[in-house]
Amino acid sequence: FLPKKKKQRDCLINLKIQKENPKVVNEIDIEDLNSTNVCYCRCWRSKTFPVCDKSHLKHNELTGDNVGPLILKKKIL
Ligand code: FES
Repeated sequence: FLPKKKKQRDCLINLKIQKENPKVVNEIDIEDLNSTNVCYCRCWRSKTFPVCDKSHLKHNELTGDNVGPLILKKKIL
């Protein structure tokens, strides 16, 4: 039997990003996107967070998880 707090800690998704903040929030203006595709991390393992650096591939391989980035695509008119 584990105390409730210990159980919750074992379930942390964010292991090291901005742990000094009570909540990690990233705000990006859509008009500021320069390239046609931008990938944002949803696995919390990226070394370039909030931008995906493909760390999710290793995370998925090690854990059997299936997480991937949020991809924003800019339509070229
Ligand atoms: Fe986290 Fe790609 S590195 S989703």
